Amino acid sequence: MREKKERTGTVSWRSPSNIALIKYWGKHGDQFPCNPSISLTLEQSFTETTIAYRPRQDFRDSISFTFRFQNTVRPDFDERIRKYLLKVRTYFPSLDHFHLDITSDNSFPHSAGIASSASAFSALALALQDMENEINGYAPALPMSRISEICRLGSGSACRSLFPVAALWGKASQLEASSDSYAIPMGPSLHETFRSYHDSILIVSRESKKVSSSAGHSLMNNHPFAPVRYEEARKNLQLLLDALKLGDLERMGFLVEMEAMQLHALMLCSNPNFVLMQPNTLIIMDLIKSFRRDTGIPVYFTLDAGPNVHVLYPDQNRDEVQEFIRGVLLNYCDRQQWIQDQVGQGPVKIR
Ligand code: PMV
Repeated sequence: MREKKERTGTVSWRSPSNIALIKYWGKHGDQFPCNPSISLTLEQSFTETTIAYRPRQDFRDSISFTFRFQNTVRPDFDERIRKYLLKVRTYFPSLDHFHLDITSDNSFPHSAGIASSASAFSALALALQDMENEINGYAPALPMSRISEICRLGSGSACRSLFPVAALWGKASQLEASSDSYAIPMGPSLHETFRSYHDSILIVSRESKKVSSSAGHSLMNNHPFAPVRYEEARKNLQLLLDALKLGDLERMGFLVEMEAMQLHALMLCSNPNFVLMQPNTLIIMDLIKSFRRDTGIPVYFTLDAGPNVHVLYPDQNRDEVQEFIRGVLLNYCDRQQWIQDQVGQGPVKIR
């Protein structure tokens, strides 16, 4: 057998994005959330990350890597990845001895305005732990809670991407197993209607955000409504957990829209203030409400930290809602772009 420090190898992981129903907005310490959040795991919006590792020749720097995104060198991403690798060195001692060529691809169109940090950092963390397993043969492999914690250090929302159907992150008094350090699986507690639930992502703008999530989170530190918001999120979480368990689509939809509006309301009155919604975001939200009122179909919206609208609906209404999206809502999207996503099963190792 070859000496372990002389090995070369390649590991690849695909990890999905997730959409928060109860939003995480405001953090403290090393990426700890100020309130618990819950998300649905997506299927079609994912990142695939490959790490090709080989023994290091050059020990001038504390880590050694290259990074390519969609086959292009992206120096603008290097600094964040570098910081992340330095942070997780304690979990992955091989980073001291190996050079990593990291390549990453998103399933969703390049600069579609879709936040990709959740899928990107979860795919990277999974690939790193796989690399470490191959080199050093962890026995047993790291538990999911620990991998989730490692994802969190890259991007808070990334820690929720690891689990099928749904995940909850942050200490919630009603859930003994919950933690601020990592996410826990929620799929088994959800009504079956959510296992085939849809999230059609309407691309209102493909431009990157004017204010990053990190900057937005930090504006919560001196936000006059922060304490009220954290309390609201806790209250909404309790109500939403009941609705998700019972399959109460109306109750769920009501709470999810309220959460999206509270998130953006916080941005509107941050200091300095900022607006991520665009005129077409407002028009689409209004059209969804009218369609729901006129047809009785339980279709609701949510928003990420951006202008794109996530349209949420059960599988039984798929045809009518998708006809409405194609016939009406796409007129308000950039180049009529949308992603037909749905609830998914979490990350997979590829190749
Ligand atoms: O994980 P971050 O730092 O990109 O923050 C995510 C923030 C929201 O997407 C707005 C909400 C959430 O819970 O995902």
